[in-house]
Amino acid sequence: MSGRMLVVGSGQMGGGIAETAARSGFEVFLWDSVPQMTDKALGTIRAHLDRGVQKGEIKSEDRQVVLDRISVLPNLESVSSVDLVIEAIIEEEKQKRELFRRLGELFDPSTILASNTSSISISRLASHVPNPGRVIGMHFMNPVPVMRLVEVIAGGLTHDTTVTQVKTWAEKMDKTAVVVQDYPGFISNRILMPMINEAIFALQEGVATKEGIDTVMKLGMNHPMGPLTLADFIGLDTCLAIMNVLYEGFKDSKYRPAPLLQKMVDAGLLGRKSGRGFYEYSLM
Ligand code: CAA
Repeated sequence: MSGRMLVVGSGQMGGGIAETAARSGFEVFLWDSVPQMTDKALGTIRAHLDRGVQKGEIKSEDRQVVLDRISVLPNLESVSSVDLVIEAIIEEEKQKRELFRRLGELFDPSTILASNTSSISISRLASHVPNPGRVIGMHFMNPVPVMRLVEVIAGGLTHDTTVTQVKTWAEKMDKTAVVVQDYPGFISNRILMPMINEAIFALQEGVATKEGIDTVMKLGMNHPMGPLTLADFIGLDTCLAIMNVLYEGFKDSKYRPAPLLQKMVDAGLLGRKSGRGFYEYSLM
């Protein structure tokens, strides 16, 4: 066994983290404030494991062993000692702040508290926790079981020992960890989001069609998805929120969100999750 981990939030990211950790030998506790979300996450994990068995990646006898490593908690207080907590709740600073304050009270100072935030300041989240040296960013990419990167974010007061321990755990999960400093958007979204935003400006100005823009980046740059398809995959509301973090954090107009992005979010066109963004999707 590699260690005991609590994952808070069982949406796409939390469920993916729980699956990857259990497959890597961690004992995983999963909690969500909405119990149906953990049922849904477990259903997805079972389906991925079945697929793994079919493809011969997992022995059929190991399927149950992996599932047995995941325990769903009825409430946050029902697990007393874990080595690592990974928060993967909604990307909303007030809710994350409140959760970190609670985690800081509940768990022993030796428990590392990590956030999967894609852009909220780790230093600000840490300021609500006693022993802020144990607070760190562990930013997984979507889909978590497939993507090889974990961006590890050191906040202003994060201890070096916390960084070293989290890198070791990320590597045990078969990920490559890259340590970055706590600046707006870290590295991943500081570079990715302006590219997506520029693609939206190009669409807004009529430089090319949405399919044309995506094809240029797929075939011309070998990106697995074009930027507009990727924006739908990530969620247009998330893209807008991250652009606003960059814009406000750097106070630089080069990060202003494209008005078309704002308009689509205002209209509820959020991408895959709402059934329509730049493209249309069937909702499952
Ligand atoms: N969970 C688990 N496995 C998945 C999966 C999921 N959600 N989605 C796809 N896969 C697996 C499939 O099972 C398949 O595996 P096999 O080939 O072994 O069967 C493999 O991934 C490839 O899937 P597909 O053939 O269905 O489709 P694809 O080749 O187009 O790949 C993709 C899908 C991996 C998502 C690929 O399109 C891709 O890499 N897209 C870019 C994703 C990306 O950029 N992610 C980062 C987003 S940014 C972010 O997450 C951070 C942020 O803060 C916003």
